[in-house]
Amino acid sequence: MRTQVAIVGAGPSGLLLGALLHKAGIDHVIVEQRSPDYVLGRIRAGVLEQVAVDLLDEAGVGARLHAEGLPHDGFDLCFDGRRHRIDLHALTGKRVVVYGQTEVTRDLMDHRAAVGRTTVYDADNVAVGGFDTARPFVTFRQGGVEQRLEADFIAGCDGFHGVCRASVPGSAIQTFEKVYPFGWLGVLADVPPVSHELIYGNSDRGFMLASMRSKTRSRYYVQCRLDEKVEAWSDDAFWDELKRRLPAADAERLVTGPSIEKSIAPLRSFVTEPMRFGRLFLAGDAAHIVPPTGAKGLNLAASDVALLARGFIEHYAGSNEGIDRYSERALSRVWKAERFSWWFTSLMHQFPETGGFGAKMQLAELDYLCGSVAAQTVMAENYVGLPIPG
Ligand code: FAD
Ligand code: DHB
Repeated sequence: MRTQVAIVGAGPSGLLLGALLHKAGIDHVIVEQRSPDYVLGRIRAGVLEQVAVDLLDEAGVGARLHAEGLPHDGFDLCFDGRRHRIDLHALTGKRVVVYGQTEVTRDLMDHRAAVGRTTVYDADNVAVGGFDTARPFVTFRQGGVEQRLEADFIAGCDGFHGVCRASVPGSAIQTFEKVYPFGWLGVLADVPPVSHELIYGNSDRGFMLASMRSKTRSRYYVQCRLDEKVEAWSDDAFWDELKRRLPAADAERLVTGPSIEKSIAPLRSFVTEPMRFGRLFLAGDAAHIVPPTGAKGLNLAASDVALLARGFIEHYAGSNEGIDRYSERALSRVWKAERFSWWFTSLMHQFPETGGFGAKMQLAELDYLCGSVAAQTVMAENYVGLPIPG
């Protein structure tokens, strides 16, 4: 097989890149190691920045998002018995949209099927090579048959555990990492959200987040220890813990019900530099991870592939400026989102090792934030998303 761009991974990065390349008439094939149902079954992000919404519109997949997504103009911060609303819209003129990653993925998959572009699912032994030459390739086994896909470029959209970053020689790559000493226990349930906006809480029992996927589906998280097992958390135990961390009035109002998904995610900050290796380009979680506080992961994946699609489109129109500057442009936005996610995580969680002084610093910063429009504007402009560079 031969194509212009071989995309490894059919998560949001790979699928959105595919949709943007399709629109520009650039031939491409996506190779994914899992099944479509497995990809759709992963419950992950839930908040889209305007930049991501605009990209989905540009790719022609925004209709359901506009019909069913919930625009949010602000969120609440709760700490020390206090509650403060960050008014995103008043501070920045922008808002975010609550629309699940699962739905974004489904819309992109449906669009891809409708326009007849190829996605190879259930590919085994996916490997990439030749990206330091003019003839890069992807090999895999499909239904027991060895396949070789030759391309002008490879887009590594295969997530944190993918094969693309792992195939780069260690001498060519630098990584930066911070692992946090806790995780998030998340529950999805078909119950109405406790509040019409998100609540981020710093309680003395640990962080909590009240989020949602729709007016009838809630997503809640509580900070947990890294050694905890999800099987040890009954639904009742989860709801009890959430109530202890919610403000009292919300805890009383909380509607509980059976969980439809429950999982523990560790928290990590991670960045790869550069994001280009010859004819191999990394995008999304393949290149960087943020801790989830602030919901930047999916949004960063979208801005990476916007830059990458632009680079490929310019290349086929005769200029290499976009692909040559891809890594530098993407990283300048990535590092700012890393900073914001690290800061918001540091502000809202209980850190076992920082003791009483660390807790006082958090409260002082939260108190300052609530009293300073300047500080709230800094927070809000990062939360709604910084512009795509270049
Ligand atoms: P992925 O979604 O990981 O997709 C990569 C794809 O590549 C997958 O389909 C995978 O099967 C495939 N793949 C992997 N290896 C290979 C291979 N060798 N060959 C072929 N295909 C391969 N972000 C938020 O903003 N808010 C959240 O609440 C949030 N929660 C999260 C919870 C969890 C448990 C995780 C893991 C992430 C969460 N994120 C969250 C981050 C967000 O989901 C990611 O940033 C986003 O999925 C990145 O998209 P991606 O396409 O780059 O990577
Ligand atoms: C969600 C996750 C986040 O990390 C966040 O900051 C907001 C919402 C969510 O999964 O709904």
